[in-house]
Amino acid sequence: MSVVVPVGGSYDVVVGRGLLADPGPTLLPMLGAAVERVLLVHQGAVAGAAERVEAALAAQGLLVVCRAIPDGEAAKTADIAAALWADLGVAGFTRTDAVIGLGGGAATDLAGFVAATWLRGVRVVQVPTTLVGMVDAAVGGKTGINTAEGKNLVGAFHPPAGVVCDLDALRTLPRADLVAGMAEVVKHGFIADARTLELVEADPQAALDPAGPVLDELVERSVAVKAAVVAADLKESHLREILNYGHTFGHAVELVERFTWRHGEAVAVGMTYAAELARLAGRLDAEGVARHRRILTSLGLPTAYPAGRWAALHTAMTRDKKTRGSRLRFVVLDGIGMPGRLEGPDEALLEAAYEVVSSPDPTTAR
Ligand code: GLY
Repeated sequence: MSVVVPVGGSYDVVVGRGLLADPGPTLLPMLGAAVERVLLVHQGAVAGAAERVEAALAAQGLLVVCRAIPDGEAAKTADIAAALWADLGVAGFTRTDAVIGLGGGAATDLAGFVAATWLRGVRVVQVPTTLVGMVDAAVGGKTGINTAEGKNLVGAFHPPAGVVCDLDALRTLPRADLVAGMAEVVKHGFIADARTLELVEADPQAALDPAGPVLDELVERSVAVKAAVVAADLKESHLREILNYGHTFGHAVELVERFTWRHGEAVAVGMTYAAELARLAGRLDAEGVARHRRILTSLGLPTAYPAGRWAALHTAMTRDKKTRGSRLRFVVLDGIGMPGRLEGPDEALLEAAYEVVSSPDPTTAR
């Protein structure tokens, strides 16, 4: 059984199990009636699924160019994008042909970017196989590659023609990646869906069971939150910013740690920091902050960061590409499901929140 989450009126996200065992019926309608050629971009870990997709499309008479890319951010380079553009050119891809991104967030970011730029935009269908890919990266049309100066600095908003989330793919995902992906699920809970938080609180281990029904409901709810936000504000002119909850401090942690932390781990600490900042600014009560720590810790996510790194973190935050002008902006909560903004907070407040997050005992550091 699968659930269809519409993203405004423009495309659907199909969430279910067994979808990649027989991918043709879900994928083909998303590729468009006039498609003749498909570029299938995938990572090595999902080679089996890629073979099934290739066979299903070839059986319908489509020309499938199948390309394996390196794992993780290493795939998001201009050189690899250029190699894929060359594939499209050699095979004669036209405006009615399509690209499929199969794998983690890096695969869907890269495939989306290549689709966005080929002939000024051809269809992309995203098939995320990681939790963070399903609930975040593949939904919403952000695509991009990295440069030597930073992550996702070159990119385009290019909504997919459809997204297919086969929850069975999560059965083979490393546990640490499942846990890290849960940070984005919880983020959607804090900004917009109290039921998500209640499900995790009721049984965190059930939430992390890749074969169990709780994870299915969490993914469906999370996709629905993301879909509602991006349908209302594709280009992040205002509302979409709430999806950056925990990301200002989180991106700084990723930079300072030279990307050795998983994104979700950094976002978990970032949400704890944002919650402390909101408390110090008189916006969120102490129980709201404690709830962040309880939920994140119950899932095995970090909520603290070592002391003594404030200068580096502060510099990284001011360089974040989401900073506008020289003023730091944070998404903060005025309550669960009540996101707001904190613009240009006092330096003393920023540092005080860091001191709590880096304290060995945050309950006495207030
Ligand atoms: N990951 C945040 C967004 O898609 O806007």
